[in-house]
Amino acid sequence: MEKKDLLYEGKAKKLYQTTEENVILAEYMDQATALNGQKKDTVLGKGAMNNQITSLVFEKLKAAGVPSHFIRKISKTEQLIEKVEIIPLEVVVRNYAAGSFSKRLGIEEGTPLAFPIVEFYYKDDQLNDPFINDSHVLVLNIANNEEIHQIKSLALKVNEILSAWFKTLDIQLIDFKIEIGRTKEGNLLLADEISPDTCRLWDNTTHEHLDKDIYRRDLGDLIPVYQEVLRRIQNEQNKK
Ligand code: TMP
Repeated sequence: MEKKDLLYEGKAKKLYQTTEENVILAEYMDQATALNGQKKDTVLGKGAMNNQITSLVFEKLKAAGVPSHFIRKISKTEQLIEKVEIIPLEVVVRNYAAGSFSKRLGIEEGTPLAFPIVEFYYKDDQLNDPFINDSHVLVLNIANNEEIHQIKSLALKVNEILSAWFKTLDIQLIDFKIEIGRTKEGNLLLADEISPDTCRLWDNTTHEHLDKDIYRRDLGDLIPVYQEVLRRIQNEQNKK
């Protein structure tokens, strides 16, 4: 299989067509962005780190029966994924108050929520990804009722699996964002990436940030923190 035309360039990833119609090559770049791209920096080694972490996360989820676009990692910065139409939603699951939730509702970061909350944001950079509800999703023709139900179930299943897994790594899964793809046949799959770029991960004991908040909030160097997440995942795998 060979890499062909560039199909899409995002903030931290490039997607290429391959010689197989339904297979895309995703290349993770050494880019960090925040504030809808207003803050942007080159961070050497970040692409390889995120490609490695997200591949291990998707493998974990696949083993637990979550359908996803992930096929396999093929190099330090590249992975093969199934071609899907991305549903223009950022699906956020929250276990603890943090980030925009804390700001909007005046609830202290780290406050546990009575049950996990699923939120939808409309993926539109020009509109700054506004927070929307199920009715907006229907009226904007983003997804139908059955799909909304499936998306929420998938998001909560991912949350259950990852919360339990990260707990064994001494990490609290505070919140995370996923994206969902629709195949040609109309099936929904987990898509995009799951990494410290898209999750809030706190050390269980010290509550230190092990995620992109380090960059968003100018708290220090991102690479050692991402390395620490990878180290804990690999340690756990080596124990088996
Ligand atoms: P928020 O608190 O800023 O709404 O973010 C909730 C979670 O979603 C957090 O883990 C970071 C993640 N996220 C992304 O991955 N991409 C985004 O564009 C945003 C706004 C959040």
